[in-house]
Amino acid sequence: MNHPTMQGMAPVNAPAWVKHPKLVAWVAEIAALTKPDNIYWCDGSQEEYDRLCEQMVAAGTMKRLNPAKRKNSFLALSDPSDVARVEDRTFICSDKQEDAGPTNNWTAPAEMRQTLNGLFDGCMRGRTLYVVPFSMGPLGSPIAHIGVELSDSPYVVVNMRIMTRMGRAVYDVLGNDGEFVPCVHTVGKPLAAGEKDVPWPCNPTKYIVHFPETREIWSFGSGYGGNALLGKKCFALRIASTMGRDEGWLAEHMLILGVTSPEGKQYHVAAAFPSACGKTNFAMLIPPKTFEGWKVTTIGDDIAWIKPGKDGRLYAINPEAGYFGVAPGTSEKTNYNAMATLKENVIFTNVALTDDGDVWWEGMTKEAPAHLVDWQGKDWTPEIAKATGAKAAHPNARFTAPASQCPSIDENWDNPAGVPIDAFIFGGRRSTTVPLVTEARNWTEGVYMAATMGSETTAAAAGQQGVVRRDPFAMLPFCGYNMSDYFGHWLELGKKLEASGARLPKIYCVNWFRKDADGNFVWPGFGENMRVLSWMIDRVEGKGQGGEHVFGTTPRYEDLNWNGVEFSPAQFEQVTSIDRDAWQAELALHDALFTQLNHRLPQALAETRMALGKRLEG
Ligand code: GTP
Ligand code: SPV
Ligand code: MN
Repeated sequence: MNHPTMQGMAPVNAPAWVKHPKLVAWVAEIAALTKPDNIYWCDGSQEEYDRLCEQMVAAGTMKRLNPAKRKNSFLALSDPSDVARVEDRTFICSDKQEDAGPTNNWTAPAEMRQTLNGLFDGCMRGRTLYVVPFSMGPLGSPIAHIGVELSDSPYVVVNMRIMTRMGRAVYDVLGNDGEFVPCVHTVGKPLAAGEKDVPWPCNPTKYIVHFPETREIWSFGSGYGGNALLGKKCFALRIASTMGRDEGWLAEHMLILGVTSPEGKQYHVAAAFPSACGKTNFAMLIPPKTFEGWKVTTIGDDIAWIKPGKDGRLYAINPEAGYFGVAPGTSEKTNYNAMATLKENVIFTNVALTDDGDVWWEGMTKEAPAHLVDWQGKDWTPEIAKATGAKAAHPNARFTAPASQCPSIDENWDNPAGVPIDAFIFGGRRSTTVPLVTEARNWTEGVYMAATMGSETTAAAAGQQGVVRRDPFAMLPFCGYNMSDYFGHWLELGKKLEASGARLPKIYCVNWFRKDADGNFVWPGFGENMRVLSWMIDRVEGKGQGGEHVFGTTPRYEDLNWNGVEFSPAQFEQVTSIDRDAWQAELALHDALFTQLNHRLPQALAETRMALGKRLEG
């Protein structure tokens, strides 16, 4: 199995449990290009994880947290230039530009390959190339897909072990000729002989590249999150969405939750909110005390793979095995289940370190500790923060934690059959204009609402924050193909399901983020979102009441359960009112999107736009 060692090249030394000649040859090929000092085949064991963490502690990449506070947990601080996804450096290199569409960056594959060959040549010098086999979805299940990530970052290896099913068992599934998505990742910082490494190596030049036709991923220059953990956004969304287009299924930026009514009946909801707009929180929601008998369980918090079943219903699985969640704003009050998930075996990135060796971030507790070391390694006190505005944690600071540790985990969270979806929810972060909740009158109007969704940008991506942009289906940065074709795919799927005689999932549009004149959120959010969720479930059951507005059906004040919360009709008006002028301006933004997507935009959406415009005027 071992390849002949060329002069000066690290031996490939594939272990006996790797029985896939093509995979071994590919590793040899990438090693010949990237020229690492060593090649290490990950087995996914706890011993390996512990060893790599220790190694990173010694290298200064991570700190071990106080085990009395948080067992087997670590804090990593990234380079301040490498803190979020880089959307303007993300490319979909389909053969034809029109297949990437106007919302994706595109470069001709041959040209991009030339660029990458230059960048990757010798990029792993002085480092170890880790071979990371992983399964998105339960190992061996018919809906799972396998990837192999070659990375020179041990931080990536340990995160991938939490976020995916990573390790030796993947090779048993692969056998000697199984299919896998090849993912090549480098931090892009080769070391000269004797050069001392930095704690967080990266490169100011960044490329996150996808070749949809050959199902390949190449990532250069970043070690952070979705830029580097290639199973997540790169594979499970961008590449998987193109697989879904070709094979009749969906890969979506959606949480999946189960909700059980007091009658004991369980429903399932999938919800798409853009990055840092509330998926993890909604997936782990704890109903208010007054919602006795209602229970929410967590299937996934970020990505859903959804396939039509034989019965004409849609079944969703969570392809991931962990949470890479936003830390700031997470507290026992806002997300108790997340806090409970974070008790042990966690990797924190870019949060602050307390004096007793634990972690802290903005919003974790009401009172900040008197002293911290912030995410850039500097002293931090509430006084310093007040004077300089310095944040203890970076706004896109994250935790990486095993899904299995979540107290609200659903018993079917890793069932290969998935869970049947009763409703889809789409929601952006909008301080104005968009009302609390609207039920689409039909599938096409639901697709229209999702397609034209706008949201204020967040710290999850590098660039300006708080500016409203269209984020269709919360997939703007993640759709691996032409957005118009993606809309068409959703419309087609609706038709197919309808033709099978099945009842289609209902589609809702929500906004938890309306603000008052002082800039405060009006809607209490978090667990209180249950008031909206239970209304949706009542609607699915044909019980919930509502009124009609221009865009669909919405609950009136008296249609929601207000037990246990002070929320006046006037406040309700603040989160549900429809301002005609604001909506005229909003429709103009829909038009701008449709102009951008003009080529191949489904006619049904343009027609829906016209009909809604008439309703708004009428
Ligand atoms: P990604 O992991 O980036 O995809 O984010 P996400 O969609 O999972 O968002 P998450 O649940 O982590 O929430 C992001 C931020 O929004 C956190 O600071 C939350 O505290 C805050 N947030 C979540 N839900 C609500 C809500 O209902 N109301 C308000 N006001 N804030 C919320
Ligand atoms: C997001 O940005 O939507 C995330 C974080 O979930 S990352 O993995 O970096 O994409
Ligand atoms: Mn996300």
